[in-house]
Amino acid sequence: MQILSFKNYEKLSGYTADFIADSIKNKPNMVLCMASGSTPALTCDLLTQKLKKDKVDYSKFTFIGLDEWVGLPPTNTGSCHYFFHKKIFEPLQLSPSQYFLFNALSDDLKGECSKMDKIITGKAGIDIMIVGIGMNGHIGFNEPGSSFSALSHIAELDEITKSVGQKYFNEPVQLGKGITIGFGHLMNTKKVFLMANGTRKAEVIKKTIEGPVTKSFPASIMQQHANGFILIDEEAGALLKNQ
Ligand code: PGA
Repeated sequence: MQILSFKNYEKLSGYTADFIADSIKNKPNMVLCMASGSTPALTCDLLTQKLKKDKVDYSKFTFIGLDEWVGLPPTNTGSCHYFFHKKIFEPLQLSPSQYFLFNALSDDLKGECSKMDKIITGKAGIDIMIVGIGMNGHIGFNEPGSSFSALSHIAELDEITKSVGQKYFNEPVQLGKGITIGFGHLMNTKKVFLMANGTRKAEVIKKTIEGPVTKSFPASIMQQHANGFILIDEEAGALLKNQ
């Protein structure tokens, strides 16, 4: 695991967007798995701008959404579907054959999980995964206590996830379960970037980097990834020993 520290959120997002764009240039059929949320929002904007400005052929890469709130329709502005449509698919006019998101309204959520697992295996794995970190240390909906080897699965959401998650919605919503790519896939991903910014994330970043590796704090798994990178701004890194 390596730590990359940036002056601020803009620099952190710019680096990540450039890294993804260069990866698509170098390997046009690469597979990108990304989280939605406040943290990667600017990265998405900068990425779509850069791909267009540099006239990169992005017609062959595959996009995989990290997770989704179970029971929410894609039209809900707080859903991951909505986020990716607005931030990536529409600006780039991606072909629907290029992106894969969990259908969280499916009657067969387990089937959705095996479908996603087959897609990932069929593409020979994920090249780059971009994730955020929750206030309970979750990554995607790999909640405290999650297995370090699970593939795609359905998760009972932790109380912190349910309360912090309200920020994505215009009105209070009942959140219960999530569907997510698991840590088995994260560990097999060639490069994983965990991004965090702001003082709000300083405590969880300290635990991720300096705490013990434990299922009760899921992001600590990053310490075991040979190509795991923690990308932080100065505020998120403020409590680290070597800052
Ligand atoms: P955020 O979410 O990027 O909106 O802070 C992070 C997460 O809960 O994974």
